[in-house]
Amino acid sequence: MHGWKRFAAPRFPITVFLVVLPNMNRGLIELISGRGKPKPKAVWESKFSNGKYECLKKLGELAHYSVIAGYFHYLKNGGSILDVGCGDGLLQSRLNINRYSYYLGIDISDTAITRASSKSNNKTFFFREDAMKFVPKERFDAIIFNETLYCYYDPLAILKKYQNYLKKDGVLIVSMIVNSRHYFIWKRLKNKFATLDKTKIKSKNGLRWICKVLNPS
Ligand SMILES: C[S@@+](CC[C@H](N)C(=O)[O-])C[C@H]1O[C@@H](n2cnc3c(N)ncnc32)[C@H](O)[C@@H]1O
Repeated sequence: MHGWKRFAAPRFPITVFLVVLPNMNRGLIELISGRGKPKPKAVWESKFSNGKYECLKKLGELAHYSVIAGYFHYLKNGGSILDVGCGDGLLQSRLNINRYSYYLGIDISDTAITRASSKSNNKTFFFREDAMKFVPKERFDAIIFNETLYCYYDPLAILKKYQNYLKKDGVLIVSMIVNSRHYFIWKRLKNKFATLDKTKIKSKNGLRWICKVLNPS
């Protein structure tokens, strides 16, 4: 092999330039521009069917659910809640049922909603809905995104959509585990929503979460 080909061919295969680098760049641009990473419905179904989220019921996870529940009871005691991406209803189990008037949990997973439905009662409801398409019929005192905001490609657009379904002085409560993607999502939200309060949580095994109460501006 002669000339530049001798140098370039083994070390920089053309596929690196044509396939890998552009994709890396796209991924990087999406990361730093605060995009989420949606997964197909089938992925969520298998996660719930395979018991992947049973770990969320462990002691180490208690704190971030409790912070969200605490924010709701402190700020909107006796009010109504929309829990977007509620999974199998774990957050509802951490709430004091006597301290809310109405709870609606929606999730894209049939498996999760079937499980959550065992907790339904005359003021607690779980519906199988895609949060991207769901149109609430009422307004809520609090709308909660507990470890689900990063499941939408455009987290800011989702929050803006749902803020229209808040009652006057209603709040958005958002929790996200700490990682680089979520850092950029928070960064993107910072200019659009006032932060009423923020709590950082660190569990014994080193996992960290940020929970914020956001006021639509
Ligand atoms: C990490 S789990 C968190 C579940 C629950 N919020 C909790 O913390 O216990 C993310 C949840 O978002 C749900 N989800 C993902 N995309 C969704 C969508 N487009 N509409 C509604 N729910 C969605 C998943 O099915 C899953 O239950």
